[in-house]
Amino acid sequence: MAEQANYNDKVVRQFAVMTMVWGVVGMAVGVLIAAQLCWPALNFDLPWLSYGRLRPLHTNAVIFAFGGSALFACSYYVVQRTCHVRLCSDALAAFTFWGWQAVILAAAVTLPLGITTSKEYAELEWPIDILITVVWVSYAVVFFGTIMRRKIRHIYVANWFFGAFIITVAMLHLVNSAAIPVTLFKSYSVYAGVQDAMVQWWYGHNAVGFFLTAGFLGMMYYFVPKQAGRPVYSYRLSIVHFWALVFTYIWAGPHHLHYTALPNWAQSLGMVMSIVLLAPSWGGMINGIMTLSGAWHKLRTDPVLRFLIVSISFYGMSTFEGPMMSIKTVNALSHYTDWTIGHVHSGALGWVAFVSMGCMYYLIPRLYGRALYSLPLVEVHFWVSTLGIVLYITSMWVAGIMQGLMWRAVNDDGTLTYAFIETVKSMHPFYVIRLLGGLLFLGGTLVMCFNLYRTVAGARPVTAPIPAPVLAH
Ligand code: HEM
Ligand code: HEM
Repeated sequence: MAEQANYNDKVVRQFAVMTMVWGVVGMAVGVLIAAQLCWPALNFDLPWLSYGRLRPLHTNAVIFAFGGSALFACSYYVVQRTCHVRLCSDALAAFTFWGWQAVILAAAVTLPLGITTSKEYAELEWPIDILITVVWVSYAVVFFGTIMRRKIRHIYVANWFFGAFIITVAMLHLVNSAAIPVTLFKSYSVYAGVQDAMVQWWYGHNAVGFFLTAGFLGMMYYFVPKQAGRPVYSYRLSIVHFWALVFTYIWAGPHHLHYTALPNWAQSLGMVMSIVLLAPSWGGMINGIMTLSGAWHKLRTDPVLRFLIVSISFYGMSTFEGPMMSIKTVNALSHYTDWTIGHVHSGALGWVAFVSMGCMYYLIPRLYGRALYSLPLVEVHFWVSTLGIVLYITSMWVAGIMQGLMWRAVNDDGTLTYAFIETVKSMHPFYVIRLLGGLLFLGGTLVMCFNLYRTVAGARPVTAPIPAPVLAH
């Protein structure tokens, strides 16, 4: 562990632990709102337990608290290892940790109180937005400052993805959150009407593209080769993947605004660029999965690798489904339905959560110098959570397509075949199946937390260095 003494792993450990904590909290809120959709009385008539307030709490907790902490942890770990230097400032790195936790706590208090800008994924009010900006700029300084001090001339591709994620999120946040404050807890967006909608979905889609994708691809490019003990399948493809992905993503936002007041040409442009996006997305997926060539047998014995590889497969699935849903005629059916929710969670659970969990299984034993407590428990986690994802997304696909078809069904005389309430009632069984899927996924996550807790608390220090196959360039 002599090597680790030169690196700032304290901040990596802190973010890694909070990844697990916020993961459990965010998913538990997800389970609660899934139950509320089955049995609305579960809001107990309390305003701060109402669905409308808890839903943004769920999305903020899982995306920014769970996903964000995983991204901070992994980017800080990777940038040090690939540049062969310590983070450029310990104090600033510590500030990013405490600052980010303060943002999360502020969100956890204000959202249930109903304090919100009402912009999806950007609900936090202006004082918190300012804190986010300060923390994010500090993050950029730490990350790029470390890159500038690197001892290795080459900048490994994972850092390109982390770098793009940091810069783009800064730009998205600054533009979309521009607002005029009227009181401490209320502000109004500087944009209005359809411009507001366009800026919001330029932000929203790129939050998916850069927060939920680019940074996690950075994780894939470092941890998959490490865990598999194989070089990245094609370094050239990874560079093409990078440039094609960052160029294409930024245009696709209008697919969230089909059949709205947005000019038709902008909708069509968004649709075309979304279809083009399939190519770089699948290029990246192929590069990740093919990294296993020559080492496929490891999937049988290494459940951690299985998390990573299955996550890349879900990435491939959701980036096939997304371009399809962006086609206007398909979107005419899918929009407003649970199909979108199914798509979101095949990306969120299958890709974002699974790749993060694979990375945590890799990181925690190394960060604490302990052998992993139980490999069979990783296996249990894998199967329980995979079953959870399958139940979640298949029930939402069926529910969504049914909803869409029921809404558009008309009788011979032109009247609607179904009253709206009938479509709501027919969703009930699928919502119960989704709840079961969510419970399984959360259960699997708790198994992981137990396993990693026993790893850290356990008395099984690693005597020999944990085999860490060489990172291939
Ligand atoms: C090539 C890649 C992708 C494309 C073209 C794409 C396209 C789409 C489309 C067309 C919608 C529905 C918009 C609507 O009808 O309102 C959507 C929704 C969404 N997608 Fe994707 N998707 C992609 C990948 C992903 C991935 C990998 C994730 C998650 C990690 C994801 C997360 C989301 C979210 C969160 C929404 C819901 C947004 C909202 O309405 O709140 N997408 N996507
Ligand atoms: C136990 C696991 C989870 C459960 C039970 C769950 C449940 C839910 C429910 C019930 C909704 C509201 C759906 C609706 O309004 O119809 C939702 C929305 C959402 N969840 Fe989750 N969730 C889970 C995990 C996650 C994770 C890990 C992520 C991200 C990494 C995530 C991201 C989202 C997003 C982005 C939305 C908003 C989708 C949209 O507006 O279209 N969820 N979730």
